[in-house]
Amino acid sequence: MNIIVTGASQGIGYEVVKNFCRTLKSGKIITLSRNAENLEQLKNECDEINSFVRVIAVAADISSIKLQQTHASLFQNEMPHVDVLINNAGLLIKKNFSDLSEEDIYRVYNVNVFSVFRLVKILKPQMGGKQTTHIVNISSMGGFQGSSKFAGLSAYSSSKGAVAVLTECLAEEFKNDNIKVNCLALGAAQTKMLEEAFPGYKAPLSAEQMASFISNFALTGSKIFNGKILPVSLSTP
Ligand SMILES: NC(=O)c1ccc[n+]([C@@H]2O[C@H](COP(=O)([O-])OP(=O)(O)OC[C@H]3O[C@@H](n4cnc5c(N)ncnc54)[C@H](OP(=O)(O)O)[C@@H]3O)[C@@H](O)[C@H]2O)c1
Repeated sequence: MNIIVTGASQGIGYEVVKNFCRTLKSGKIITLSRNAENLEQLKNECDEINSFVRVIAVAADISSIKLQQTHASLFQNEMPHVDVLINNAGLLIKKNFSDLSEEDIYRVYNVNVFSVFRLVKILKPQMGGKQTTHIVNISSMGGFQGSSKFAGLSAYSSSKGAVAVLTECLAEEFKNDNIKVNCLALGAAQTKMLEEAFPGYKAPLSAEQMASFISNFALTGSKIFNGKILPVSLSTP
């Protein structure tokens, strides 16, 4: 099993990778984030959990337009076929609409939306074919149509809405390529990002609990779902 997880240096992504190490007999996981130290720590923890799962830490900024140039050959060499891609990395900037700068909006969309385009474009030649690829895009209840909305989150929540619709578009476009694409619209899980968005709020789920659902879904969900946006939430927010 060959897996790529973005945003693995902390929070939900970190726990997703650990959970894969607990559940898989063997495999390879590329972890992508900017914080090299945290990725190295994750790799060491994973080695302790299951030495038959090889974790490759790649310190990279997925918002860089040079990602293709700098990392495509590494992905090709390490992972000739990608079985699972989890687009989990996320950026939240909390500011009222009138205080949001062009740069803020671009930064949020670059990490949350454009990087999904970027990574799927880079990895598409290594996806599908004889073996299924499952792309899991991590969105938010904030980007789920008809859900409660909160002041200060217009850039973040609208970017997550874009990820949801992008999921539907990709599933349609890749339907003959054996590539399934689904989106999980997460509710609150206790992480640094949640604390930034809702200071003092206690989420009903830990990062570990949310991660356990996500990693199991990534391994099994493509048999039942394609092009779906699934709310994964116990609470509002
Ligand atoms: N926690 C919640 O309640 C909640 C609810 C709904 C949706 N979500 C979504 O779940 C996902 C994980 O969130 P979280 O709560 O675990 O957040 P988090 O603790 O803030 O972690 C975010 C991750 O994204 C990575 N990242 C951000 N910018 C990046 C960049 N330019 N290049 C590479 N990696 C980057 C960060 O790594 P580096 O800083 O090392 O680069 C970090 O590993 C996000 O997509 C978030 O929107 C979370």
